Amino acid sequence: MFFKLKDFDFENKRVLIRVDFNVPIENGIIKDDARIRKALPTINYVLDQNPKQIIIISHLGRPKNEYSPEFSLKPVCEKTKELLGKDIFFEINPRIINLTEMSSAKIVMLENLRFDKVEKENDIDFAAKLASFADVFVFDAFATAHREHASVIGVQQHIPTCIGFLMEKELEFLKKVTDKPKKPFVAIIGGAKSDKINVINMLIKKVSVLIIGGILANTFLKAKGINIGNSKYSEESLGFAKELLNKYPKKIALPVDFILGRDFLNDTETHIGGIKDDLTGWMIMDIGPYTITGYKEILRKAKTVVWAGPIGVFEFEKFRRGTWDIANYLSESKAVKIIGGGDSASAIKTFNLQDKMTHVSTGGGASLELLAGHKLAAVNALEENYKKFK
Ligand code: 3PG
Repeated sequence: MFFKLKDFDFENKRVLIRVDFNVPIENGIIKDDARIRKALPTINYVLDQNPKQIIIISHLGRPKNEYSPEFSLKPVCEKTKELLGKDIFFEINPRIINLTEMSSAKIVMLENLRFDKVEKENDIDFAAKLASFADVFVFDAFATAHREHASVIGVQQHIPTCIGFLMEKELEFLKKVTDKPKKPFVAIIGGAKSDKINVINMLIKKVSVLIIGGILANTFLKAKGINIGNSKYSEESLGFAKELLNKYPKKIALPVDFILGRDFLNDTETHIGGIKDDLTGWMIMDIGPYTITGYKEILRKAKTVVWAGPIGVFEFEKFRRGTWDIANYLSESKAVKIIGGGDSASAIKTFNLQDKMTHVSTGGGASLELLAGHKLAAVNALEENYKKFK
């Protein structure tokens, strides 16, 4: 049990709103603003109640615990202003822990919370500092709800906290799949983040088949002793991948052929190769035609499909065929289809297939953790917060 937006009265209150505005940005241009758009109903709802002030907080990417311009939330603030149709004061100080004075503007956005290690370390003083800016806290960052960070769980120890509309919708929707997924239940896990391997351990017990793509697939292939040339993979996850392959040899579907590139570039030299070929000097950039056929065959029988992370280097046009083919095939399927993750959601949007999916979640890691049966860190904290402030 936890507080919802409608349980609180925001009139004349200082309201801290944690959103997940971790959006893809290229040369200062936001490539997909879905995470911003989907947070607007909550921001507008609070604004309509005439609060004293709202302070929007978020992280962006994974900066190295210090200020770096490419991770600044400034372009995100500009986009939010445009979408909200309201002025927002952007607090440029990247060391929020040192902020002595908060602007009196009606709407403020703070710089990227991850410019300081205190956010990820859930530092007690930092959480207290953030909480001191406000009377109430609205948590609407579903995509970050699995992180034990100061702005996710720490702040909640200090002030009454409710969830926003986006968080509410995501939890409601994903619950339908976590409670009783129709079988066969197939999960497709791809993308570039190698830390997804941690949830696979749980997820694999629930699914009928786990289709693997992206860097994760390279790690599994390497764990099987296959030469993956210069392909990216996660060294630290190799042992774990080996263990899973031994334990669930029939549940894990891996690529058998690939579209290879010489370098990690769109206009690099390309070549098609298979697991038996010598891939020395090449990088795996996408799945090949035999793999696409095999993956479609698995998906043909599925009644529930969860997809997090593109299958190849989808951002390069030359290497998006695998992701595109699978997305198209899935769009025609009658299965319950849940798309999780910033990058998979962006891919689906690029192909204009979002209306053919059952639910496109804003969370990648967060939806995977839920689907794997983990309780989200933010949800635990929300339940504690409810007991404390009810
Ligand atoms: C996401 O994109 O999945 C969220 O913003 C969380 O980002 P993180 O994996 O860097 O914590």
